Amino acid sequence: MTSLLFPGSFDPFTRGHKDIARRASKICDKLYVVVMNNSKKNYLFSLEERVDMAKTVLAEYENIEVLGSDGLLVDIFKDLGCNAVVRGIRSESDFRFEAEMALANRMLYSGYDVTLLPCRDDLSLISSSIVKEVGSYGGDISKMVPAQIVETVNERLRKGRT
Ligand code: PNS
Repeated sequence: MTSLLFPGSFDPFTRGHKDIARRASKICDKLYVVVMNNSKKNYLFSLEERVDMAKTVLAEYENIEVLGSDGLLVDIFKDLGCNAVVRGIRSESDFRFEAEMALANRMLYSGYDVTLLPCRDDLSLISSSIVKEVGSYGGDISKMVPAQIVETVNERLRKGRT
């Protein structure tokens, strides 16, 4: 059985993330979407809230399981016994970041590997940061975030404005 691990901050989960999860789920038997922390980022949503949003968005996919982890990516990768990590790339700078992360992770665990999926053209400008920027000024985020969580994200951003 092949299993892949799609890690990310998902703060919040975007339509771009959903497309990568959907496509990755087609090239393996089981896809673990793991919500994690990046020490360089300040989050709008807690780890638990990000897990809940990802679960809501991905509920329709039978071979996807959503988990949360506050640890190292290589540790959960080893624990789950996955074949590879999957990440989406939108640009050359994403590619550089992913290449660096892969090298660092392979130094920590030689069995680590990663596969990169180029994102869809029409989703290439969407990022969680853009969603937060647009939404915090009251802009329409409905084309950027899956319908099931638009209200949750808007509500949190509205609170930040008061
Ligand atoms: O969505 P992001 O913020 O680009 O995801 C980055 C993430 C969370 C996958 C990365 O920061 C990560 O792996 N965090 C877990 C801690 C860890 O293992 N850091 C070492 C990475 S080289």
